[in-house]
Amino acid sequence: MIANAHAVQVQMCDALERIADGLPDEVDRRLCAQVASCLQFDLPLHHHDEEAALFPLLRERALPEDGLAQILDRLASEHASDNDFASEIAEALELLGQGGRPDNPDMLGYMLRGFFERYRRHVHWENTLVMPIARMRLTPEDLEQLSARMDENRRQTG
Ligand SMILES: [Fe+2]
Ligand SMILES: [Fe+2]
Repeated sequence: MIANAHAVQVQMCDALERIADGLPDEVDRRLCAQVASCLQFDLPLHHHDEEAALFPLLRERALPEDGLAQILDRLASEHASDNDFASEIAEALELLGQGGRPDNPDMLGYMLRGFFERYRRHVHWENTLVMPIARMRLTPEDLEQLSARMDENRRQTG
């Protein structure tokens, strides 16, 4: 599920790039609405899955030579600022989705680019540094615990 969320997020970043390229007038409004909902709901939920479930398990299982602790600290600190940034962008995209026109298209384009470039990097680090260690070190019991915790996160927000 985590790997799948990352694949969806890469597509979301591509969609953000398409939206940014089309500003101010050539934007797919349905796409704006879809991406807005993804930024507002799916992204914080995924960050919560990682911070409350995946990362703690990894901290327990990773070996010192994996050098993972600092990477996880860094990724977790990015989550907080990405959630804020994402909700700001989601608001603007919702407006576009409803047929509105951005007050300042250049500024919005700049924000979108800043976000998707940064978030692509975030997913890339997770896919190349975190996921291989998770696949190597997490036990079947860990994975069960992870999945139970993710279910619980969904019940809380659903
Ligand atoms: Fe993350
Ligand atoms: Fe992630």
